[in-house]
Amino acid sequence: MNASILVDILKYYGAPMVSNAMPVFIGKGTPIDKNIVWIDNKRLLGDGKTWEGLATGILGGFLASLAIGLYLNNTLFFTKSFIASIAGLLGDIIESFVKRRLGIKRGDPLPVLDQLDFAIGATIAYAVLGEGEVLDPAFLASAYTLIMVLHVTTNTIAYLLKIKDRPW
Ligand code: CTP
Ligand code: MG
Repeated sequence: MNASILVDILKYYGAPMVSNAMPVFIGKGTPIDKNIVWIDNKRLLGDGKTWEGLATGILGGFLASLAIGLYLNNTLFFTKSFIASIAGLLGDIIESFVKRRLGIKRGDPLPVLDQLDFAIGATIAYAVLGEGEVLDPAFLASAYTLIMVLHVTTNTIAYLLKIKDRPW
């Protein structure tokens, strides 16, 4: 992977990554789904999606986007990066909805989607916001590969530090 691809990955996915990592420190909170059970008798989202987690994620995404926007001296990109971070958090919420419908319990793994849920949300946001270059196949493959590797590494560290109770 060459340096300019790495810089672009950080530019586009840095804030969504920070935003996605923040809720992990929350652990417990008020479930977004208000404990509601769906027609399939399973939770709508589950206890892993909380308002507190969402709020810290939005805050983290805001601060990281601000840093990137200031560094690039680009207000428009700050806005897009912040929106992409929120879209990433929504992607994670949608992923939990899908997991529950598939009968996967909160915290149980759905490989690949668990790691890429937020990245897919962020990619869609950038594409909609006119940053279509994120859809370049070589860039997308590099970004998603790096995110998968980083996700697995950081989650293993978080597990070893007992921040997370499962290594995924
Ligand atoms: N989290 C949160 N609120 C959110 C997103 C995440 O509180 N909106 C916290 C929860 O403590 C969650 C942790 O971040 O356990 C990690 O998120 P994730 O891996 O997406 O959740 P899981 O516990 O694996 O739950 P799910 O099976 O629904 O993906
Ligand atoms: Mg998830």
